[in-house]
Amino acid sequence: MRIAVVGSGYVGLVTGACFGDLGHEVVLVDNDAKRIAALSSGEVPIHEQFLPELLARHRGERIRFSGDLQAATRASEVVLIAVGTPATESGDADLSYVESVAREISGGIEEYKVVVEKSTVPVYTSQWIRTIIMRDGADPAHFEVASNPEFLREGTAVTDFVYPDRIVVGVESERAAAVMRELYGPLTSGWYYGRADAIPRPEAASGKGPPRLIITSTKSAELIKHASNAYLAMKISFINAVASICEAVGANVEQVRDGIGTDSRIGPRFMNPGIGYGGSCFPKDLMAFRAVAKESGYDFRLLEEVIRINEEQRHRFLRKVRSVLWTLRGKRLGVLGLAFKGGTDDIRESPALLLVQELLREGCQVCAYDPAAMERAKGVLPAGVEFAADAYAAAKDADALLILTDWEEFATLDLEHLLAVVKYPIVLDGRNLYDPTVMLENGFSYYSVGRPAALTEEVRARALPRKRERA
Ligand code: UGA
Repeated sequence: MRIAVVGSGYVGLVTGACFGDLGHEVVLVDNDAKRIAALSSGEVPIHEQFLPELLARHRGERIRFSGDLQAATRASEVVLIAVGTPATESGDADLSYVESVAREISGGIEEYKVVVEKSTVPVYTSQWIRTIIMRDGADPAHFEVASNPEFLREGTAVTDFVYPDRIVVGVESERAAAVMRELYGPLTSGWYYGRADAIPRPEAASGKGPPRLIITSTKSAELIKHASNAYLAMKISFINAVASICEAVGANVEQVRDGIGTDSRIGPRFMNPGIGYGGSCFPKDLMAFRAVAKESGYDFRLLEEVIRINEEQRHRFLRKVRSVLWTLRGKRLGVLGLAFKGGTDDIRESPALLLVQELLREGCQVCAYDPAAMERAKGVLPAGVEFAADAYAAAKDADALLILTDWEEFATLDLEHLLAVVKYPIVLDGRNLYDPTVMLENGFSYYSVGRPAALTEEVRARALPRKRERA
């Protein structure tokens, strides 16, 4: 099929690259001429596994880049809108980019097309898109609007796209449903998975058959997206609240999670406690969903509590740092992780970054390392922050080492090497990447989330001489 994808951010780029790999002819449209030039010349502006390979595989052939939205619309059977929907001051989604794209698309509609909203938008947006396109002169018989929310996680977006749990499509007619079925046919028929050069199947998707295409009304599809993200955020806040109780009573949240997560009605996924969720989706979508609920007359106070617990989680961690180090002014902290989660260079609403900013305000010296997000972080952190070449350089001479992002490489550090470089063997882990007993055995005082600290005065006394002996 010939398709246009409007917007070359995370969602647009991944969607375009994956549809190209499924065999469609894709034109990726953006009004940022520099970005289009960079993409055409082979640059990949975001850190996303398999994206460079897919773009290299299809660039100039099945995937082209353009700044001309009307021409791209004219040439396509399906136009997917994947532009940003940032939050306004009041928490609603700002839909002005979606509206201006809809206006421009209107001029390119001469024969039947399906216009698909991929951006995360509140319920009723598809109706608005339809109204705007008609208002600008397109014949209503020549187009329909569908809602096709994405469930891609940054860092694993490409595998999430080609090995989805399900595909949700909201339409108002059988004709539009048929177009959407054809668009996803390479996945739902299983054809893609038989290809020798298919993106490798991740372990989490092993044994899964082709995905189910769930056809709903457009309003239901719009709600499915917001409700999914809100539910996942609620799971995280729930386990974080349980972790706080574990800390208070001396229980271990990992054991508790294991005990509740093995109930198949609950499930173990998205139950990792930590310093709270961040990123460009959950914080924004929770606010937007709350606003949608309010507008519809429903006071969704549960969401407010999810947000409150999430923010509190960061403050709790900060209090933990304070309680371990006593005063903070002048303390040297090694920081591992700036991205909002492992596997991405994205720092939007990153709890790690927010914590670093708070620690700097309290007068700490920070030496940070992140495998992918340092360039972006340099743009927002003050000049005094040091950036290290690796985890050990960040830990060098540190009064304490803080683990703030769940990068895989932070979970497999050479603990002997680490012990040799730090000033004091103190690790505060906001992501529970280590077994407290192992850390203790390796000479560290170890604090994590919702688990008893691996530290006693006696341990501290033992750990320090061991370090001196090594030195
Ligand atoms: C999220 C959803 O998972 C996707 O399904 C959705 O498509 C996407 O938002 C979106 O709306 O576009 P993403 O923001 O990339 O994806 O990242 P997640 O993997 O969901 O993580 C979000 C945050 O929650 C991160 O800060 C992560 O560290 C945190 N998290 C996640 C936890 O603290 N505990 C967990 O158990 C899982």
